[in-house]
Amino acid sequence: GYDADRALVRSLVREVADFPAPGVMFRDVAGVLADTGGFAAAVRCLAEVSAAFEPFDHVAGMEARGFMFAAPLAVHLGTGFLPVRKAGKLPPPVHHASYQLEYGTAALEIRDGVVEPGARVLVLDDILATGGTASAGVDLLQRAGAEVVGLVFLMELPELDGRARLGDHRVESVLD
Ligand code: PRP
Repeated sequence: GYDADRALVRSLVREVADFPAPGVMFRDVAGVLADTGGFAAAVRCLAEVSAAFEPFDHVAGMEARGFMFAAPLAVHLGTGFLPVRKAGKLPPPVHHASYQLEYGTAALEIRDGVVEPGARVLVLDDILATGGTASAGVDLLQRAGAEVVGLVFLMELPELDGRARLGDHRVESVLD
């Protein structure tokens, strides 16, 4: 069931202090992906919390770790998958959004025209920290014509108050 899946996933997340910069606690999800049963348990948990947002047409994920969970979730739920890419990977025309990270700055892009106008999109990522990545993803998807129905994270770090960056959008997380 959900509680057993959630406990398994929690046990597989590795915490690494001071990476990639002093004072930052890195949460490594590679152990979740690598575990026999752990990856499937994570996708089931994400599906469970995503049910509150149905119906939606696509699951969008932010490169790179967002891809690892959003793509299998989309297959599990029978929706399409929208990759929100790190800047510089896609040919024009694109929508572009830069944002502040806990450690440095970054930019994301989505192909203009990939979303049909009014498509209902769930935004998914592995971790909500400052909310910079997720809010840039929301901004891009909305500019591309999508209706963002909400956001789902495998893990949320409440002390960084990433939810404050996401305005009125509804947010659900599997772990905190
Ligand atoms: C991590 C993580 C989230 C983001 C969360 O990605 O996968 O996307 O940071 O942080 P935020 O809420 O403060 O924006 P990262 O930028 O390290 O890139 P990666 O997925 O390519 O590893």
